[in-house]
Amino acid sequence: MDRTAVIAAFVFVWIPMALIAAGAAEVKLPPPSHDGRVSVEKALTERKTARKYSPDPLSLKTIAQLCWAANGNRDVDTISQATLKVIPSAMAVYPLNVLVISGSGTVNGLEPGVYRYDPARHQLDTITKGDQRKSITDACFNQDWIGRAPAVFVITGAPKKTKTMTDRFGVDFAVMEAGNSGQNILMQASALGLKTNSVAGFSHADLSRTLGLSKDIRPLLMVTVGK
Ligand SMILES: Cc1cc2nc3c(=O)[nH]c(=O)nc-3n(C[C@H](O)[C@H](O)[C@H](O)COP(=O)(O)O)c2cc1C
Repeated sequence: MDRTAVIAAFVFVWIPMALIAAGAAEVKLPPPSHDGRVSVEKALTERKTARKYSPDPLSLKTIAQLCWAANGNRDVDTISQATLKVIPSAMAVYPLNVLVISGSGTVNGLEPGVYRYDPARHQLDTITKGDQRKSITDACFNQDWIGRAPAVFVITGAPKKTKTMTDRFGVDFAVMEAGNSGQNILMQASALGLKTNSVAGFSHADLSRTLGLSKDIRPLLMVTVGK
């Protein structure tokens, strides 16, 4: 086999086979719906905190819709060519990332693990495999109901990105934007008839360690979702 054929075999055969064997590193998500039948008023009225969920799994389509609501891209501005997003961002810096944590059999079509939502590709990138919900619960001062939620969303921020005039803006802007993103998850979930809870009662250090976050990334807000 000549050199080109060996490289081609490596790229097109061996790497995809290795990825399949290891479990897909990237999970393509079904396209999000941009329309719905539930009014904003109804979604607001129906939302309330729930700490008990049915063991019924969520669908990958639901996870896709919630990811898009949390941090999705809309389209490209025809004049500036900037990507427009479903959440606003101070100075359009966009310091947030959304992580999804699933358990064993809690989301159809998704292996247990920790994933990062990639808005540009509308896909999940694997961070860690395996059910991490027990460690997440421990990091949340043993709020054990969190470990029974079919899906946990973690909104993280990079305050350094928003650091402009003072440190205060860096952290504050990221936290404010996490609030916008979390509220979008709550509203979208409510419109889909799902139960949610916002969680900020966690140890930053423990949660960061469990999620494998680098030092300049902070976990800001979690949202649990289930039926
Ligand atoms: C920033 C924030 C952090 C919260 N953290 C927790 C938490 O760690 N654990 C929990 O059980 N509920 C948590 N909650 C949920 C509140 O307890 C709940 O929203 C409140 O009791 C009002 O109830 P309602 O959401 O049903 O209106 C949090 C809510 C917010 C907004």
